[in-house]
Amino acid sequence: MDTEKQDAVTHAPVSQDTGNGDLLIIEDLHTHFFTHDGIVRALDGIDLVLKSGKTLGIVGESGCGKTVLALSILRLIPNPPGRIVKGSIRFQGRDLLTLTEREIRQIRGNSISMIFQEPMTSLNPVFTIGSQLAEVVTLHQKRRAGTKAQAREVAIDMLKKVGIPSPEKRVRDYPHQLSGGMCQRVMIAMALACQPMLMIADEPTTALDVTTQAQILRLMNTLKEETGTSIIMVTHDLGIVAQTCQDVAVMYTGHVVEHAGVEAIFSCPLHPYTKGLMQSIPRMGEKVRGTRLYAIPGNVPTARNMPKGCSFNTRCPEVMEICRQETPPPFRPEPLHLVRCWRYAP
Ligand SMILES: Nc1ncnc2c1ncn2[C@@H]1O[C@H](COP(=O)(O)OP(=O)(O)OP(=O)(O)O)[C@@H](O)[C@H]1O
Ligand SMILES: [Mg+2]
Repeated sequence: MDTEKQDAVTHAPVSQDTGNGDLLIIEDLHTHFFTHDGIVRALDGIDLVLKSGKTLGIVGESGCGKTVLALSILRLIPNPPGRIVKGSIRFQGRDLLTLTEREIRQIRGNSISMIFQEPMTSLNPVFTIGSQLAEVVTLHQKRRAGTKAQAREVAIDMLKKVGIPSPEKRVRDYPHQLSGGMCQRVMIAMALACQPMLMIADEPTTALDVTTQAQILRLMNTLKEETGTSIIMVTHDLGIVAQTCQDVAVMYTGHVVEHAGVEAIFSCPLHPYTKGLMQSIPRMGEKVRGTRLYAIPGNVPTARNMPKGCSFNTRCPEVMEICRQETPPPFRPEPLHLVRCWRYAP
């Protein structure tokens, strides 16, 4: 369906909450990249809601638009070739897309912070951990670092909070002297330094071994409870979602195809793509020897071979004729369960 026709489809409102329980409401968000090979519709009509104080998991295969979504919220899409062409991102009631560059800079790092996948590339190799932490605190004015000695104290305090041993020594270290897990803890300390309302973590533990991964996730959960910060957890790991999230948005080719509470997604997935993801998780206690783990057949379509209608129709075991003709709008079979699949048309 083209964009004009898509407009004609009445969108079910993503937010059911008219009070102040929703921190972030994204509606019909389109972010496109205008490349020599054509237009890449990285986000093609995203609808999602993040409730205050909760963790929302964003899951989906590589290339489905998770990082582009995170960068769109912060208005960090490189232009050219990218541009947010349509939609709204309401954060605490204000549409971030209508803010001036100065206003959005105030939001970044103060109200919304981000942790990137590769901590090594986000830390500056030529400055000590301590000076980088102190700079963040000073920049965002929440706690004035004052003198050099005070700055050092603040940095030590922050390192302590994220569980770094001997913080008095570590403030003098350079990033290359710390392990990947330690660097990620430093990134979390930086992201939380200005007490943001929202922290976006883009695959924060992908580069780490499983033990360190579990420690970092526990740390994020604890800090979330202490500070009340809401989290968007971008991951392709459903185990992480089960451990950390209250709500989940499942993405496929630039759409949120299913959005619901974590229990509903795991116990009663509705979208055939989500059902496939669930079937592909190995489960303890099930007889697995001699049986192959389920894999969703086929490949994710690219911008060049995107099928007409629902983008999952070439891989869907439940495909119907309408799926090959028209893109499904979001339907709401339950008040808090949103699904983009013609099977749930009222
Ligand atoms: N600068 C860019 N120029 C052109 N296309 C881009 C650019 N950045 C992202 N894209 C495209 O946008 C789509 C979504 O990419 P994105 O990085 O958000 O995927 P992802 O879900 O984060 O994947 P992964 O799990 O591998 O991190 C992809 O098709 C990607 O090729
Ligand atoms: Mg990514």
